[in-house]
Amino acid sequence: MAGQAKPGFLGRIMLRKSVDQVQAEYAGGELKKTLGPVNLVLLGIGCIIGAGIFVRTGNAAALHAGPAVILSFVIAGLVCAFAGLCYAELASALPVSGSAYTYSYTTMGEFAAWIMGALLLLEYGLAASVVAVGWSGYVVSLLKDFGVVIDPAMTAPFGHVIELKDAAGVVTGTTTGFFNVPAAAVTLALTLLLTIGVSESANFNNIIVAIKTTTIISVIAVGGYYVLTHMEQSLPNWQPFIPENEGPGKFGFEGVARAASIVFFAYIGFEAVSTAGQEAKNPKRDMPIGIIGSLVICTILYMLVATVLTLMVNYKELNVPDPVAVAVNALGPQWAPFAMMVKIGAITGLTSVILVLMYGQTRIFYTMSRDGLLPGVFATVHKKFKTPWVNTLIVGVIVAGAAGFFDINTLGDLTSVGTLAAFAVVCLTVIFLRQTRPDLERGFKVPFYPVLPALGIVSCIWLITTVELHLLVFFGWFIAAAIVLYFLYGMHNSKLGKGVVVRGHEPPPGELPH
Ligand code: ALA
Repeated sequence: MAGQAKPGFLGRIMLRKSVDQVQAEYAGGELKKTLGPVNLVLLGIGCIIGAGIFVRTGNAAALHAGPAVILSFVIAGLVCAFAGLCYAELASALPVSGSAYTYSYTTMGEFAAWIMGALLLLEYGLAASVVAVGWSGYVVSLLKDFGVVIDPAMTAPFGHVIELKDAAGVVTGTTTGFFNVPAAAVTLALTLLLTIGVSESANFNNIIVAIKTTTIISVIAVGGYYVLTHMEQSLPNWQPFIPENEGPGKFGFEGVARAASIVFFAYIGFEAVSTAGQEAKNPKRDMPIGIIGSLVICTILYMLVATVLTLMVNYKELNVPDPVAVAVNALGPQWAPFAMMVKIGAITGLTSVILVLMYGQTRIFYTMSRDGLLPGVFATVHKKFKTPWVNTLIVGVIVAGAAGFFDINTLGDLTSVGTLAAFAVVCLTVIFLRQTRPDLERGFKVPFYPVLPALGIVSCIWLITTVELHLLVFFGWFIAAAIVLYFLYGMHNSKLGKGVVVRGHEPPPGELPH
């Protein structure tokens, strides 16, 4: 800043990185342009399919929407499409690696970037704990099939009263949850893998996508066959399709909207496609194909899974940690091996999603640390493993703690709220950039501007308002704490604020998750 007048308060918190600066920071990583539309769609699907469909669909149907959870998927998919198009435009206008954090830093400035960093902690860090709890549900269920029963207090969140049932399903007593050990254990195991530098490669991602989609398609096929051959048992499960409203967010149209905010979680991850902008062969055409293509495919798969689940069993039975397995059990004991395969497929898919989400979180912290917004220890790279190891361990412990102590509904709802807020900011960023830099070359432009970005903002805020007040209050406190931290720490340590140029800012070794 030498030789320049000191910016005022607003000028200070809106200090921006220039596009050139960000590109220079990433200059070390000349990435090969190898990804075509199919790779990009697969990259999206690899990040998207996880606990949302395998676990949260059950809660959403049982507690909020009934069979109409199918409509909730349409609503959530549309909201994601608005945001997805905005991501595609930003990725083509600001072809830099990095996430929405970097987009905010280059357009609306440092304060917005900091808030985005806080929101991404919910989108990646907290989401990882949600998926870990989902993983635990399927592992506990699979172990039970092999006759291994873990003490229920050690597989449930702190303070939760759990009903104990005998083999016939009759309630025999209760116990209180203490800590979800499997959820924390898988998180810590994956933390160690990330610390020594294991991340997903394109081939690995393709294998995982194949396992996940095969699992889901086989559930749709087998479940669909069962439904078609047992119409007299199945159809009554759809009567009524939209159960009558029973209070705020419980069934009726209000419930369908509330369920949309829950199943929204199932779509998180598609924006990973936008981070691959530099590696796309033809970003202008392929980025929107990758983003919208993966969203459309997942929406169709999700709607079909929701259709067979709610027809095979009554929606009231789906509020369990392993709803897909519960529905498959309805096929009868002769299908037990298939149920096991579904559980193994789900566990494999969920493991990779935890890995990708934790990887993303550590890289966001790494970038923020390089920018001076977080302590330097978050950017310390291990000499041998070449990974940000302290950062990874800190993230691992936080994610494991959240997964061990809290229930999946609370964690999942907070993730949805944080991510919806992040998406709203991304849509706003598109409008901001069009106003401030109309000259910037954009490979892809959101159609029907400004209607679509505006619809994106409004629909994200609308879904946030469907979530229970106590969670929104918690979210408010979280953001308030983030703002205080910015003024106490971030603002004073920011390298941009001090006029220090960050050079050689390429991400640490370890491929991006594709
Ligand atoms: N969309 C991802 C999932 O459902 C985060 O697990």
